[in-house]
Amino acid sequence: MKINENFLKLKDSYLFSTVARKTAEYKSAHPDKEVIRLSIGDVTRPLVPAVIRAMHAAVDEMADAATFRGYGPDRYCYAYDALLDSICASYARKGVALQKSEIFVSDGAKSDCGNILDIFSVDNTVLVPDPVYPVYLDTNVMAGRRILFADATEKNGFLPMPDARMKADIIYLCSPNNPTGAAYTRDQLAEWVDYARRNDAVILYDAAYEYFVTDMRCARSIYEVEGAKECAIELCSYSKTAGFTGVRCGYTVVPEALVRGGVPLNRLWARRQSTKFNGVSYITQMGAAAVFSEEGEREIAENIDYYRGNAQLIADCLDGLGIWYTGGKNSPYLWLKCPHGMTSWQFFDFLLENAQVVGTPGSGFGKNGEGFFRLTAFGTRENTRRACERIAALLKK
Ligand code: MLT
Repeated sequence: MKINENFLKLKDSYLFSTVARKTAEYKSAHPDKEVIRLSIGDVTRPLVPAVIRAMHAAVDEMADAATFRGYGPDRYCYAYDALLDSICASYARKGVALQKSEIFVSDGAKSDCGNILDIFSVDNTVLVPDPVYPVYLDTNVMAGRRILFADATEKNGFLPMPDARMKADIIYLCSPNNPTGAAYTRDQLAEWVDYARRNDAVILYDAAYEYFVTDMRCARSIYEVEGAKECAIELCSYSKTAGFTGVRCGYTVVPEALVRGGVPLNRLWARRQSTKFNGVSYITQMGAAAVFSEEGEREIAENIDYYRGNAQLIADCLDGLGIWYTGGKNSPYLWLKCPHGMTSWQFFDFLLENAQVVGTPGSGFGKNGEGFFRLTAFGTRENTRRACERIAALLKK
C-alpha cells in the first residue's frame, strides 16, 4: 500500500495546536503564573436563552417515544425544515432569496471548507490569500492540488484583488477576514465575482464572521453581489455568530444556478453529504433554528456587542502604544505589527514570557504574516482588560 504522501508536505502540526502546545509547556514550567489566552478564536459568552430553551425542549422530545427522532429527514440531507426555514429567513433579511434545497447543514464551516473539495478535481488550481486561515491551504495540500497565493499586505489593506494574469479554478475568500480582520466591500467582491465568471472558477466564500460587519459598504453574504449565485459557494457558521464552537453547527450554500462542466454542483454536494455524512443532531439543529428567531437575533446581537467592546479595548491599548493594526472594526480579530521589529514568533515568546498573554503569530498564517500578530476579542471582558493592562505595562517600558 501507499500512504497519501501529500501529508508529508504539511507542517508538523496545525497552527493552533502548536500555539496550544507552547502555551501548555510554558504553564507547566511556570505553574504560579496565570496565562491569558487571546489566541484561538474561541468564544466565551454562554449560549443565549432562546437557544438553550429550544435545546431543552428538543431534549424533552427525545425522551418521549411519541416525539423521539432518529436520523434526520432524507429530503434535505438530514436538515429539519425549522432550521432551513430560519436560515432562508435570515438570508431574506439580507435581500437574498434562497431555496431550502440550496442549504446544507453540517457540523461547522471548518469541516466544509475542506470537505467541499471532494466535488472538485485534484487537477484544479487553487488560489488562497496569504496570510490565510490554515484550513484552506492544508486541505488542498493534503489533496495534492496546485496552489497559488494572492498577496494580502499592508499596501492593499490585506484585501487582495483579482489579477487577470493568474488562472485559478477554485478561489477561497474570507470576509471579514481571518486572520487580518479586513472586510471586502460589495464593489470589491463584485470584481471577484466578475473574475470567477470570466474564468469559469468557483469562489469558496467563508462568511463565518459576517455578524461582525458594521460598515454598510461591506457585504454579509457574497450573494448580495449580482451574479454570485452562478460562481460562489458560501460557508457559514454558528460558532462566532451564536457561540456554537462547542456545539458544532454550520451550513453551506450551494446555489442551484451554480453549474460547472455542465453539472449542477448542488447535486454533487448533496450526493457527497448523503454518502459521507449523517447529519447534525436534532437537539443541535433546534438550538440553531432558534438563533435566527426574533428573540435569538436580539440576544446574539448582545453577545456580539460584548465582543466588539473587547475589540475596542484592545484597539485603545494599541492606539495608546502607537502600534499599527488593522481589523477589530468589522471583525473580532486585531492584526497588529509586532513592535521593535520582532518576528511573529519572537513577539509570541516575548508576550508569553513577560506578560503571560498568548496571541497567534502572523507568520503561522503565511509568509505575508511575518512580523504581524493576531489578537482575538472573543475572551472575557475581564481577561481582555487585564491582558491589555499587561501589554501596555510591558511595551510602555
Ligand atoms: C481561529 O482562531 O482562527 C478560529 O477559531 C479557527 C476556527 O474557527 O477553526
